[in-house]
Amino acid sequence: MTSQTKAEKIISEKKKRGIVILAHTYQMPEIIDVADITGDSFKLSQAAEKLDCDTVIVCGVRFMAETVKMLSPEKRVILAAPEAKCAMAEQVGPKEIAEFKAANPDVTVCAYINTTSALKTEADVCVTSSSAVNICKKLNTAKILFVPDKNLGSFVKNALPEKEFILWDGCCPIHNALTAEDVKAAKAAHPDALFVVHPEAPAEVVALADYVGATSGIIDFCLNKTDKEVIIGTEVGVCDYLSQKYPDRGFYQLAADKLICPDMKFTTLDCLWRRLRVTAARKSF
Ligand code: 13P
Ligand code: SF4
Repeated sequence: MTSQTKAEKIISEKKKRGIVILAHTYQMPEIIDVADITGDSFKLSQAAEKLDCDTVIVCGVRFMAETVKMLSPEKRVILAAPEAKCAMAEQVGPKEIAEFKAANPDVTVCAYINTTSALKTEADVCVTSSSAVNICKKLNTAKILFVPDKNLGSFVKNALPEKEFILWDGCCPIHNALTAEDVKAAKAAHPDALFVVHPEAPAEVVALADYVGATSGIIDFCLNKTDKEVIIGTEVGVCDYLSQKYPDRGFYQLAADKLICPDMKFTTLDCLWRRLRVTAARKSF
């Protein structure tokens, strides 16, 4: 009898115990392969809400697991790699927001989903990169404080010139490292390719894009442009995912050395297996 691989053990254990594995698209390909549901942070939390199970394991960073728990408070939500944090999510805290609100009662505080749950309790509204423009547009207030990402904030601000925005001076250090030169070099290497980017990138990079959107939006855009090559301007997991699923298409990673989020790569098959075993053991008593 051949011995099972770690991936096979994970798949058999999660099925036996009725545990569902959710993985953000930035996760390593071997984690994506054993997951039940993959997608962006908002899609994962929405999908979890509809699941008929009592326990989910989230492969991603802390704010993603917290968001899943917020929409599914009755479920046990476990983060596969508990040390995995988003480098942007803690750039602003609840105390700073409470003080800002006390001093500026006429300003609506809009928090990006990439924030802690503690901060969200102080914010007036929470948005994702795909919903930010629509939700800010509908707010019946002229002044908005957008936290913590100044790049997504300035993208929303440019789309809504009728509103007054105050932007927190935060950013994702991974996407913020991109430059217009990176894009020009990639376009020179792949002159027929379209260019897509996450709105956490700086404005000079966003200005060169054919499409700007969150992870799910980028994937949908690429799948709809079946006859086009595409340069992918976001974390390497997205280009890995597309290239593995559609090997005959031309997907090219922009600035590969810059676009690796170390926290999103903390989850390994070993750590997922350990978390699954511990969670399954707790579930049984
Ligand atoms: P999504 O909302 O696209 O999942 O993005 C999460 C993230 O961490 C972006 O860097
Ligand atoms: Fe946070 Fe940036 Fe990593 Fe996304 S890529 S999880 S925003 S640090």
